[in-house]
Amino acid sequence: MSLFRKRSIDKLLQDSQKGRSLKRDLGTWDLTLLGIGAIIGTGIFVLTGQGSVTAGPGLILSFIISAIACGLAALAYAEFAALVPISGSAYTYSYATLGEFVAWIIGWDLVLEYLLATSTVSVGWSGYFQNLLQGLFGWQLPTALTGAPGAKEGAIFNLPAFLIVMVITFLLSRGITESKRTNNVMVAIKVTVVLLFIAVGANYVKPDNWQPFLPFGASGVMDAAAMVFFAYIGFDAVAAAAEETKNPARDLPRGLIFSLGICTLLYIIVTGIMTGIVPFGDFKGVDHPISLALQVAGQDWMAGVVDLGAILGMTTVMLVMLYGQTRIFFSMSRDGLLPRRFSKVHPKFQTPFGATWFLGIVAGLIGGFVPLDRLAELVNIGTLAAFTLVSVGVLVLRKTQPNLKRPFRTPLVPFVPLAAIAACIFLMSRLAAITWIAFVIWLVIGLLIYFTYSKRHSTLNKD
Ligand code: ALA
Repeated sequence: MSLFRKRSIDKLLQDSQKGRSLKRDLGTWDLTLLGIGAIIGTGIFVLTGQGSVTAGPGLILSFIISAIACGLAALAYAEFAALVPISGSAYTYSYATLGEFVAWIIGWDLVLEYLLATSTVSVGWSGYFQNLLQGLFGWQLPTALTGAPGAKEGAIFNLPAFLIVMVITFLLSRGITESKRTNNVMVAIKVTVVLLFIAVGANYVKPDNWQPFLPFGASGVMDAAAMVFFAYIGFDAVAAAAEETKNPARDLPRGLIFSLGICTLLYIIVTGIMTGIVPFGDFKGVDHPISLALQVAGQDWMAGVVDLGAILGMTTVMLVMLYGQTRIFFSMSRDGLLPRRFSKVHPKFQTPFGATWFLGIVAGLIGGFVPLDRLAELVNIGTLAAFTLVSVGVLVLRKTQPNLKRPFRTPLVPFVPLAAIAACIFLMSRLAAITWIAFVIWLVIGLLIYFTYSKRHSTLNKD
């Protein structure tokens, strides 16, 4: 019963080709759009408000720093994804290469990433939705139902956030899969809205607002970098599509790097413009900073368009995130590490129905009761931990199995993975103490489950 027992790559590949194999028809461009679909969301539409207050106009630098950390980790992801081109993401690759215990920890971290990202984005969605209702019809919800306790005075429960997650859960449980076409349309709308913001907003920039550029020094920039890291989360969804990619060795690294590159560029320009229109201090407590900037510019109509685009855009992020979460839970349950009932497939809809509703309700309640910044930080710490482990994995595997056929090789090993590890740990170190405490508690719960349940129920015990 070793902690390091592995699933065989050959067997995984064979299983994935038996009967239920997925069609390989995604190319570089599809993957890039898929990545952008999962990436652009609450990070840019909401967290930039708090980010500006933390870093001032230097928030631009925060975005660059986070992008570098993600880019380095993406190169490690690409090596794994091309080596084990099977769905299930980092959890599956690590099971095949590093063994069950590491796979469990990564899977457990990915729950923080995907499940809580769904909740976080639902809170961002709710902010824009309420702003839109107010703008269009002058409607306002009773304060008690507008946010989590502590998010604003008198708030008890974020009802719109909860309800949108229920709608998405319903869709996913009935088998609405991310089809290439719908995704591409949604991405087009989202990117158009961002480009519109850039085109219109650029005319209202007052360079004076960029002075001082670093009101809180390097420390503010680093703190904000650790927060807006959230804006890049989702590019790993590209790696998760490995099983459906035509030429994983070529298309995966390109899709990862292109989607990250395009989003980085957009983020930098958007941040520059919004802090150029509105003095950074005025973003305090604002949950729709991008449309606020347009309102300040007197472009109310355009602000409404941006609200709508942001709402649609964040909806796709939630779909992808919750979808990813159900599939990871499904894999972990099928491998015996979680109770069997999470991998039961609905006879009619062919989806993990029970798991989807379980996870959806949990994500919805968390979105209803926990404030946004706390949630985003937890997502970041879980994701950064998973990126660190994946980068460690590349190093370990190069040593232990140097002769594996690697269709894509991370360049400049060991430097790139080491730099990725250093960058991720550095960003983690900038997160609040409370986030660390929550993360450690999360890991301890994970270890307890592993040693009392998963290790004994793993299907590897039978092999
Ligand atoms: N990167 C995604 C977002 O910002 C999770 O919403």
